[in-house]
Amino acid sequence: MSTPLNTEHFWMPFSANRQFKSKPRLMVAAEGMHYTTDDGRKILDGTAGLWCVNAGHSHPKIVSAIQQQAAKMDFAPTFQMGHPLAFEAATALVSISPSGLNRVFFCNDGSEGVDTALKIALAYHRVRGDGMRHRLIGRERGYHGVGFGGISVGGIAGNRKHFGPALPAVDHLRHPLNIAKNAFSRGLPEHGAEMADELEQRLLALHDPSTVAAVIVEPLQGSTGVILPPKGYLQKLRSICDKYGILLIFDEVITGFGRLGNAFAADHFDVVPDMIVCAKGLTNAAVPMGAVIVKQEIHDAFMSAAPENTIEFFHGYTYTAHPLACAAAIATIDVYKEQKLFERAADHASYFEDAAHSLKGLPFVKDVRNLGLVCGIELESIPGKPGSRAFDVFLKCFWEQGVLIRTTGDIIALSPPLIIEKQQIDQLFGSIANVLKAQ
Ligand SMILES: Cc1ncc(COP(=O)(O)O)c(C=O)c1O
Repeated sequence: MSTPLNTEHFWMPFSANRQFKSKPRLMVAAEGMHYTTDDGRKILDGTAGLWCVNAGHSHPKIVSAIQQQAAKMDFAPTFQMGHPLAFEAATALVSISPSGLNRVFFCNDGSEGVDTALKIALAYHRVRGDGMRHRLIGRERGYHGVGFGGISVGGIAGNRKHFGPALPAVDHLRHPLNIAKNAFSRGLPEHGAEMADELEQRLLALHDPSTVAAVIVEPLQGSTGVILPPKGYLQKLRSICDKYGILLIFDEVITGFGRLGNAFAADHFDVVPDMIVCAKGLTNAAVPMGAVIVKQEIHDAFMSAAPENTIEFFHGYTYTAHPLACAAAIATIDVYKEQKLFERAADHASYFEDAAHSLKGLPFVKDVRNLGLVCGIELESIPGKPGSRAFDVFLKCFWEQGVLIRTTGDIIALSPPLIIEKQQIDQLFGSIANVLKAQ
């Protein structure tokens, strides 16, 4: 008999540690659409890990690229030095980025990506001699990772309340979720584009546009339960930012790499931001990596402001453009192109939408929202026990149905790998339906 696993020492992130450790849910292998648990069960992955394994698990081409690179060169610094893969990975990323966004700053995850983008925004205005622009605007219910920059512009109370005042000079737009008007919308909601006007009418009027450096939003808010931008909303944000010289940052950590059927949500919505933050699907999550993709003019402002032979931007990480991450990113982007996975996601979106909306009318389902291969299913909360209904569905899906879903509050969020087959879409929603019917 094998020794029982000691679960005492690992302090788990964003987890109910005590609940988990009382009955651990352990994965030991993964391939394609499935995990294998420690008791040998196959679990259908309805969440692409954590919105990140877009090409499916343990893709042989990505695995082999990492293995080969590990054997060839483990690490090389990118401070005043370089290695070819760093430049190749940036070129590969630019090859699928919106035109004009063609300079890449690498980091190790989404949180670092957000903090990097915010720093670029603040420093950009300063190197241009417009250092008055020090204010950052985020959005309620936005998730931008866990760095102090990210929690400051983020709008999730639970992620902020224990950590003091964080960054000064930050304000927030309201989020556009309006179930009363838009419940069970298929794709983008009709109502609420005017919520973007409050950037100009409320926040810029209050703070004065000349003090605002950047607005950061997730084009589709993922982590707080799939909040979709109403039709025309992002276009309005873009035009207000343009009018006042404010940078617009899209946090595409979830929406990047095919989730909505295009490389980026920016393509899907035809709204080009000044910077895109990405991570997760960049390497298919096989090695941690994040990136900020930046408009060339922003990058060039740094290059022309600094004296020759001096550092232009005082920022970076030991593991910026780590060779293993670069090898994984190059292989992953190749896989997306070769297997046409973004197009595949677009092709499967309407089947996924129909399956999602088939849950309408089941017990406790108060809204279903979807776009591309992402959907949110909002359940009525149990009075006095917010989050517990959805968590119970999550546990039953895992233990009884062999399906991994994700929940946030009483919202189920689904984002399967882009390789999902139609019959697996049926299995995913059928399993949730089974559990809801038995509630
Ligand atoms: C939109 C968004 N931004 C940032 C992050 C943070 O990424 P990470 O957990 O890799 O730091 C996430 C993570 O889910 C995210 O969804």
